[in-house]
Amino acid sequence: MTQKLTAAITAVGGFVPEDKLTNKDLEKMVDTNDEWIVTRTGVSERRILKGEAKGASDMGAPAVLDLCRKRGIDPIEIDCLICCTVTPDMMFPATANIICHKIGAKNAWGYDLQAACSGFLYGVTTGAALIESGRYKKVVVVGADKMSAIVDYSDRTTCILFGDAAGAILLEPNTEGLGVLDSILKSDGSGVSYLHMKAGGSLKPASIETVTAKEHFIYQEGPAVFKFAVKGMADVAGELLERNQLTGDDIAFLAPHQANKRIIDATAQRMGLSPEKVMLNISRYGNTTSATIPLCLWEWQSKLNKGDNIVLAAFGGGFTWGATLIKWAY
Ligand SMILES: CC(C)(COP(=O)(O)OP(=O)(O)OC[C@H]1O[C@@H](n2cnc3c(N)ncnc32)[C@H](O)[C@@H]1OP(=O)(O)O)[C@@H](O)C(=O)NCCC(=O)NCCS
Repeated sequence: MTQKLTAAITAVGGFVPEDKLTNKDLEKMVDTNDEWIVTRTGVSERRILKGEAKGASDMGAPAVLDLCRKRGIDPIEIDCLICCTVTPDMMFPATANIICHKIGAKNAWGYDLQAACSGFLYGVTTGAALIESGRYKKVVVVGADKMSAIVDYSDRTTCILFGDAAGAILLEPNTEGLGVLDSILKSDGSGVSYLHMKAGGSLKPASIETVTAKEHFIYQEGPAVFKFAVKGMADVAGELLERNQLTGDDIAFLAPHQANKRIIDATAQRMGLSPEKVMLNISRYGNTTSATIPLCLWEWQSKLNKGDNIVLAAFGGGFTWGATLIKWAY
């Protein structure tokens, strides 16, 4: 009898730029204050990728190399690399191709996947399916976002939220029932009006007018998005537990997307999780979009044990949202 293949996470890598942008720094740039930012969002500082001609691939590449080093493999062994990002180096070609070139992953094919803040969850689910198909042995999913490239630093409602970073996981076949066990992914395109970038796509190509009108930055109706996010992320995490007949007691950790601490608290509460079971690093990195969840796994990996049930959960632009159940493999 052939054994069922699952996709196990066998290594995690990460990269955060050195430069910090603190709440005190932002106080000098816009009309805000540390107390407001911390109580409304949970963010104290974020990392910013500085330097000429540096893009998402300059964070994605070192994150994947970190992962290869930890697993003891050469990038040449990677079969496929999925790069989840809303801030690709260029509109085309795919940042996945650029990362593969930078790290010498000469045998890999790959593509970019864009699902805003849920990008990494979508990437894990599709990467796992490639492994489960039996066709690929080593699939990398990397979330890399240089949010500072699309943040308007004169808009106090968004510039306080975002930061730059990358995180990556390696997926490999497993026959012990470890790895990605279940995912519920959702999307609702009617959410576009609340969170988007107005220009730069085929609908409204870049022009002098769009640049002058600051239409190449994140546009967000924060309170509306907040309302959808609190309900969406908590509901889908609850649904995932129920359909797997699990309760909060069965879960070792929640690795949530780090958009706002209040959204994370609501999700943890719905799942019946105590605070020590929630991976939380929003205070140090802010919202790094596709990188938040792998960055949590990267920082928490020494606390994880083989067989631990871990839930990943996210909500983002689109709207997109979802939750994934993982049994830790090492
Ligand atoms: C953006 C967000 C932090 C704003 O928090 P909020 O509690 O909704 O705050 P509001 O936008 O209602 O603003 C409340 C007041 O603070 C003010 N304010 C907004 N930004 C501020 C800032 N940086 N500093 C000080 N005051 C600020 C507002 O102008 C408003 O003032 P008013 O009452 O005089 O009009 C919150 O809405 C949020 O996290 N939204 C979801 C983000 C998200 O999950 N995105 C999806 C994934 S990317």
